[in-house]
Amino acid sequence: MVEKIDNSKYKILVTEDEESVREIISWCLKENGYSVVTAENGKVALEKFKKDTFHLILSDIKMPQMTGIELLKEIKRIDPDMPVIMVTAVSDVNIALDALKNGAYDYVTKPFNLEELIIAVKRALEKRELILKNKEYQQFLEQKVEEQTREIKTLYLNAIKSLVFALEAKDKYTEGHSKRVTFYACEIAKRMGLSNLMIHKIHLAGLLHDIGKIGVKESILNKPGKLTNDEYRHIYDHPVTGAKILTPVLKDKDILSFIRHHHERYDGTGRPDGLKGEEIPLGARILAVADTFDAITSDRPYRKALTVDFALREIKRCSGSQFDPIVVIHFMDFAEEKLKNVIYIKPVINDIFPEIEREEFLVENM
Ligand SMILES: [Fe+2]
Repeated sequence: MVEKIDNSKYKILVTEDEESVREIISWCLKENGYSVVTAENGKVALEKFKKDTFHLILSDIKMPQMTGIELLKEIKRIDPDMPVIMVTAVSDVNIALDALKNGAYDYVTKPFNLEELIIAVKRALEKRELILKNKEYQQFLEQKVEEQTREIKTLYLNAIKSLVFALEAKDKYTEGHSKRVTFYACEIAKRMGLSNLMIHKIHLAGLLHDIGKIGVKESILNKPGKLTNDEYRHIYDHPVTGAKILTPVLKDKDILSFIRHHHERYDGTGRPDGLKGEEIPLGARILAVADTFDAITSDRPYRKALTVDFALREIKRCSGSQFDPIVVIHFMDFAEEKLKNVIYIKPVINDIFPEIEREEFLVENM
């Protein structure tokens, strides 16, 4: 006999129609410390299996009502990791092999050597424990990786938010500007039927499009009067400065290009590269409309906010020269739907931007 250890935690279901064989197997397993439940046929075994927790199934193959192979298939369907040892007459070896193909862990032949049976049982239980431990470890690792990925993404977004806060602390007129531009740009992108990934890129580019203004002198940024040519040129370095600041933290070339080109004009007279029409990245063409609409409808250092109606007329007027006409059409759709009867943006900001903080969306799509 195999050395006795505490096997009582293992519950084994013994399925055998011949009472004498059932009793011998049961006795032998109990002698070795295992907990045993018996069933006289496959149907009874299946009922017991569904109601209780077992660690191993021992099953005869030839039984009335439900064969051992049918029982095996049902058990494997319910719990693929449950080890099943088939008990079979020597003449049934081919059937036993068929059982192995159907997922049985092992088989013992009748009349069997009890020591052999116990060794097979022990081996099957050890293998099951190993499989379960591996599964548990795998799940633990997957969960850990998922948690860490989420944490990294959140930290990354927070780093981006810090950059936006840094800019807003310097230039009070950009406070909220980045978020509003992001909102308008995403609304356009959605109406254009762009993919979630593209909307996500436009979202990040929207938040960061003016980050290069960190490099613009405050006296110029907040100058109430007209800018000189040099000052104007200095301010309009910001798309290039922005892309430069972000290159070490943003690996996405699309987002960087949207930022670099958000002041290009559709007719090719914009900055910094004078790109024309579709040479300008789509995200940048979308940001250009969103940015201008927000600039017109917000207070600026040199004037108060203008009306929505004025801004819409201005954008329509510049469709095809400053702006991509297709982008303008989709922006007008948005305005028609969400800005009808709105005169000034500021008083209705909270109604228009209910979902402006869409960080969950951002993290999901990173
Ligand atoms: Fe800008």
